[in-house]
Amino acid sequence: MDDVVDFINTHRDRYIEQLREYLAIPSISALPEYKTDLRRCATWTADEMRRIGLKKVNLIETLGHPVVYGEWLEAPNKPTILFYGHYDVQPVDPLDLWDSPPFEATVREGEIYARGAADDKGQIFMHLKAVEAHLEQRGLLPSNIKFVLEGEEEIGSTNLDVFVREHVRDLAADVVVISDSPMFDRGVPSICYGLRGLAYFQIDLRGTTTDLHSGSFGGAVSNPAQVLAQILAQMRDRSGRVKIPGFYDDVRALSEDERTQIKKLPYNEIRYRKEIGAPKLFGESGYGTLERVWARPTFEVNGLLSGFTGVGAKTVIPAVAMAKVSMRLVPDQDPDEIARVFEAYLRKVAPKTVELQVTRMHGGKPWMTEIDNPFVQAASRAIKKGFGKCPVFTREGGSIPVVSTFKDVLGLPCVLFGIGLPDENAHAPNERLDLENFHKGIVTSAHLYKEISSIEVSL
Ligand code: BES
Ligand code: MN
Ligand code: MN
Repeated sequence: MDDVVDFINTHRDRYIEQLREYLAIPSISALPEYKTDLRRCATWTADEMRRIGLKKVNLIETLGHPVVYGEWLEAPNKPTILFYGHYDVQPVDPLDLWDSPPFEATVREGEIYARGAADDKGQIFMHLKAVEAHLEQRGLLPSNIKFVLEGEEEIGSTNLDVFVREHVRDLAADVVVISDSPMFDRGVPSICYGLRGLAYFQIDLRGTTTDLHSGSFGGAVSNPAQVLAQILAQMRDRSGRVKIPGFYDDVRALSEDERTQIKKLPYNEIRYRKEIGAPKLFGESGYGTLERVWARPTFEVNGLLSGFTGVGAKTVIPAVAMAKVSMRLVPDQDPDEIARVFEAYLRKVAPKTVELQVTRMHGGKPWMTEIDNPFVQAASRAIKKGFGKCPVFTREGGSIPVVSTFKDVLGLPCVLFGIGLPDENAHAPNERLDLENFHKGIVTSAHLYKEISSIEVSL
């Protein structure tokens, strides 16, 4: 592998220039006005795939943004990797909190700052560069590979789910590889063996047809803003436990063994608290912070809107109130079942004085894998070679909806090896990626394809 690694080391600076171009395309999937930029980003990705030597590269249309597909299948009798990533990014607001423009990637102190740097373009690009290094140096890859890159992960992957179900044979593989998660900490590479799921809702309350003078009408009608606050207050108790009946029915308990492993991780809770600027941490009693984030479900209010919020004071009873809420789920909770118990509870606690409308938005199932699977072990060896250290095993609190589809529909194990850092501001202003990790990530990916090639697969 020395020649391949040499190639990667030699081209280190060129990679950063190329990544800059990729990061310049504002592929914000949540906002309809960026539709053409998503297509431009998909086209850029496909052009790059062709340039590095992937075959059958094309954009596959969906009801939403296109899927970019490319493959290299010339390693007979060797395993096939299905690589998944997403080329869409999150919106950039609040824009004034960015130190440099989100779509003009800027390098400062060894990190590249831009929307998508860590989540997920930088991590996709790392794999494209690893493939390129193999093909340039040797004309061959050690394993077969199929790339599936979507443009709708940040909005719930609904169309990709359909795509996977409709292309079961085309997507046949032995393992899924994904780099779309952080590593445990700077200098602590990791493999992620579990993700939480998600169920997301919008709640709309209407009290009256229009806003009312709070003097003339105050006392005669209920106030939707207040009702909303009262409803939300009944979702969790003061110890952080979710009060929706049935919510915990399918939650898989943490094993003693897993708790012991989690406690061994080099985790500094005080540093964590200071970094996020919280006066005091809070969560379900009986669990440590990592356990709460990785292995326990939550209920969160994501946004609230009602009434007068401008400068000064206005005496008004708002006609409507709105909240966005979501629940992070853990094995073996099912988003459909959670949606059912949530809506039932909501209807029960909402008073008759307001009209209630609940809209279910995106979501995904939780996922977990066994860490003794041979592909995870192969990734572990590759990380040892790329980062000079054995990885630790982690779970994550975030969600990648399609991972459980790969498992349920294609029957595939999945290796999640991410190289972002927990403080790299994914979804927030000043998103960035550490360039040292990016470089080591390319080397690790190159090793990963080689390590996977030594696994026996039935044909
Ligand atoms: N890359 C993240 C998922 C992630 C976050 C994994 C943190 C591990 C740790 C992904 O792009 C993401 O943001 N997912 C969304 C999914 C949702 C929109 C359905 C999430 O978790 O909110
Ligand atoms: Mn992501
Ligand atoms: Mn994301």
